[in-house]
Amino acid sequence: MKKAYKILAINGSHRSEKGFTEIVLQKFITGAESAGAQCEVLHVSKKKIMACESCGKCLFETPGVCKYNDDMESIILKMEEADLLIFASPVYFDSMSSNLKKMIERLRSTLDAFFEFKNKRTYHLKTNKTKQKAVTIFTAGNPERESFVSISRVFNRIIDNMGIQLAGEFNFPASHLLISDPKRLASQLEAVTMSGKEIVSEGNIKKELLEKANGEYIDDPEITLQQMTQMILKMRKENNMGRI
Ligand SMILES: Cc1cc2nc3c(=O)[nH]c(=O)nc-3n(C[C@H](O)[C@H](O)[C@H](O)COP(=O)(O)O)c2cc1C
Repeated sequence: MKKAYKILAINGSHRSEKGFTEIVLQKFITGAESAGAQCEVLHVSKKKIMACESCGKCLFETPGVCKYNDDMESIILKMEEADLLIFASPVYFDSMSSNLKKMIERLRSTLDAFFEFKNKRTYHLKTNKTKQKAVTIFTAGNPERESFVSISRVFNRIIDNMGIQLAGEFNFPASHLLISDPKRLASQLEAVTMSGKEIVSEGNIKKELLEKANGEYIDDPEITLQQMTQMILKMRKENNMGRI
């Protein structure tokens, strides 16, 4: 029997399944499952993960083994078993959520202690390219795509460091629209679902599909900002905050 294609989605949102990021992530999962993938979503905010203290134990004393006995051990095992890793996060101060960052820092124990220099970059020795692939899913409150420049750059390097291939990026600005005006994002979200299906059935995601998924749905960032302001004022009024 053919082995099922395994996907591990790591959602770094502090709002876990209630957040905007999860909406986009679930669209991808729906497509992947329709093509027969076995998917698991891991909510980092619900896991017990200690911060890497850079104590050096995993480098010098017990190579590859961290001093902490928390949820990271099972997370690393699941990551190693997956054919595809999904890194999902809200944009927080132009980067990933602190929970996700903390989890990624703990991957230090999985990397070789020694380095090599190739293609003008320093890599851990163990990071030979594997067949494993990754995709990223990010949502941001701001309406402009500039909001994803830093987080995308960071993940391109992290994924390259891990020796795996980035198969696609999905960036959704003005994330409140996922709730307040989902129709506006319908064709982009459909392309996310199709991408999930395609990576399982074809092993990659076509450029045209990625372009469609990241297609523009904000006509004018300034008008979108005005809509956001109205939404915030309405929410404050509903919560009786007395400041307006
Ligand atoms: C602490 C914090 C920092 C944020 N920083 C940014 C930011 O730098 N740029 C941006 O566009 N949105 C920012 N946002 C908005 C979130 O990226 C946005 O609401 C996101 O979709 C939330 O995803 P979630 O509901 O899955 O947690 C920030 C939100 C919080 C709570």
